[in-house]
Amino acid sequence: MNTLSINAERLLGRLRELGQIGRDSDDRLVRLAGSDADKAGRDTFVAWVRAAGLEVAVDRIGNIFGIWRHADNADEAPVLLGSHIDTVINAGIFDGCYGALSGLEVIETLKAAGYVPARPIAVAAFTNEEGVRYAPDMMGSLVYAGGLSVKEALATVGTDDTILGEELERIGYAGSEEPGFLKPHAYVELHIEQGPVLERKGVPIGAVENLQGISWQRVTIDGDANHAGTTPMSMRRDAGHAAARVVTFLRDRARNANTPTVATVGCMGFEPNAINVIPSRATFTVDLRDPDEQRLQAEEAALAAYLKELAAAEEVTISVERLARFEPVTFDRRIVELVEDAVRERGLTAKRMTSGAGHDAQMIARIAPAAMIFVPSIGGISHNPREHTPEADLIAGANILLDVVIRLAAE
Ligand code: GLV
Ligand code: MN
Ligand code: MN
Repeated sequence: MNTLSINAERLLGRLRELGQIGRDSDDRLVRLAGSDADKAGRDTFVAWVRAAGLEVAVDRIGNIFGIWRHADNADEAPVLLGSHIDTVINAGIFDGCYGALSGLEVIETLKAAGYVPARPIAVAAFTNEEGVRYAPDMMGSLVYAGGLSVKEALATVGTDDTILGEELERIGYAGSEEPGFLKPHAYVELHIEQGPVLERKGVPIGAVENLQGISWQRVTIDGDANHAGTTPMSMRRDAGHAAARVVTFLRDRARNANTPTVATVGCMGFEPNAINVIPSRATFTVDLRDPDEQRLQAEEAALAAYLKELAAAEEVTISVERLARFEPVTFDRRIVELVEDAVRERGLTAKRMTSGAGHDAQMIARIAPAAMIFVPSIGGISHNPREHTPEADLIAGANILLDVVIRLAAE
């Protein structure tokens, strides 16, 4: 039985330290892709990777790799670990960072123990997983897996009208490696659950067997600006009202269905955005998710039909732009079983589960056997500064990752 364990103090200390980088004037953690804060987080991560004695490589979309290889295993496909270190706005400190730092921690632990892997082991921090500033999300891993061209990704215009490629150049992370340059033997991503299931069940580890489909759209509704005091209710073409109806349509439909479908309107803007002017334009985003592809398509079709009806009823024009669309992904069964074996050997319990969040693993699964390991999120809270996982669970998850890597790297 393997008794090697990761250095918990080092991992937890780095998580806390990275979690202080990129705080804004209100002390909110905001490390959006390609920003100065992202640069600061990346620089710290790279410094740790170098200090661990790993080779550092950066590809053209800014994905960072720390590679541990020797002359006698350098020709073998590496076991790749990783996640992302960019964040949402007002983030918690664990989302993504836990996986990237645990990947590094596992490699450092193995190195220090004098372990000789049959294949290289590498850790990746993928660019722009969150997709907050530049859509789609999981962009760095999507490009890495060949699902989006580097050229197209680098030309992406952000919510602040910046261009991702220019921002990566500016912060010094437009690397030279061609995305896909390391073809993994296997990919394993450790992540906080970001949902309530594990905590509720009292299970410390999730063996993630699949990940739901994700549909992102931007809807623009055009009506007419007019005076709020003088325009009778019957004479309005109110884009704001029409947008509000879409929000309630989506929520009611998802709540009343006996399915796992979730629907969110996370961004909304009105023009001219004045208290006494009927909105002439409303722009908002729709995030639809479902583990079943057919049902996700049906939800998209239902929204499209509703928008058509609404445009006629409210005399507004409606246009839709697709920002991201990813089908549900099934992870590699053998790696899921390796996770379960490792959990059993450590005397813990695991639950097979579906990921509700998007992850880089869903992209890397296109080019290599991949799976994920989850640890509980207290209260199921994430994308929020109150995001929290007890230290014992963070340590247990990283040790399971260690055990799984030992098995994969010996193959
Ligand atoms: C990515 O974090 C997502 O699930 O939106
Ligand atoms: Mn994440
Ligand atoms: Mn996230």
